Amino acid sequence: MNNPDPQFNQFNKLHHFLSIDGLDKATLTHILDTAEGFTSVNDKAIKNVPLLRGKTVANLFFENSTRTRTAFELAAKRLSADTLNIDLVSSSTKKGESLLDTLRVLEALQSDMFVVRHSDSGAANFIARHVSPSINIINGGDGQHAHPTQAMLDMFTIRRYKGSFENLIVVIIGDIRHSRVARSGIGALITLGVAQVRVVGPQTLMPADVESLGVVVYQDMDLALADADVVMGLRLQNERMTSATIPSTGEFYQTYGLTPARMKLAKPDAIVMHPGPTNRGVEIAASVADGKQSVILNQVTYGIAVRMAVMSIIMGHGEEVRIAEANQA
Ligand code: CP
Repeated sequence: MNNPDPQFNQFNKLHHFLSIDGLDKATLTHILDTAEGFTSVNDKAIKNVPLLRGKTVANLFFENSTRTRTAFELAAKRLSADTLNIDLVSSSTKKGESLLDTLRVLEALQSDMFVVRHSDSGAANFIARHVSPSINIINGGDGQHAHPTQAMLDMFTIRRYKGSFENLIVVIIGDIRHSRVARSGIGALITLGVAQVRVVGPQTLMPADVESLGVVVYQDMDLALADADVVMGLRLQNERMTSATIPSTGEFYQTYGLTPARMKLAKPDAIVMHPGPTNRGVEIAASVADGKQSVILNQVTYGIAVRMAVMSIIMGHGEEVRIAEANQA
């Protein structure tokens, strides 16, 4: 029977990577295990493997990005793919060309995969529905909907530092409502079986359906942080706010800022995560962002291996990575 999830093809294989929703624990674990194999490639002097030789990956970033765009470019290059970075600021979309016409041009240039970042929720799904069925689409973040590769690099980081997901208390702080990172991260954490996901922030920054995500909601930071294993800060997504949601950034920091004093309430070996960009003195103290418990830059590094894993799996090479790893062991 065909899988109704648009991410799967008629052979029930993961063909696009659009969202964490609909992916089971085995699929998420396969991505993490595959990424584990690629970390050894990234530690070598020659970091390239030929898995995607002859393939072309087009990065279509309609919204700003530092970490995601560069990590995808490095990941594609390390898999030996050709990369096209479309400068959308000076592309023909600014001269009135429709998104679909731009996609047709990239198809005519024989692209095999599009990595898409867009400010509209649902943009990556829309593109997946309208391109040739042979092209793979990866969602690099769409509106406030999903950021699935960020979720997977966050899961990879947690597994690296904590060993497994069971028994973990994970706290996500701040602007949950506008955060695609939070939505995708919560989905992945729950599928991978953590003990509890807590979200904490002002009521105005919580989604209306927050409890339905399977989280425990707090308004008090000190209560939320008690005995936490993983503490994740989020940026205030001002560009997605249509009206004032907090009195001021100063008051937000007073009430919800991740400070050294507050980190003492979490477990002593708790790790501090943040998808970036970080706003020091707004959601996180500089000394916490740069402190011993921070794994924020490790998240960025792991993002390369995780994106190599996602790209190779959806292009049908996941099994080859596993076999190569087993042969090396
Ligand atoms: N975490 C993240 O998506 O960062 P960028 O916006 O820099 O890609």
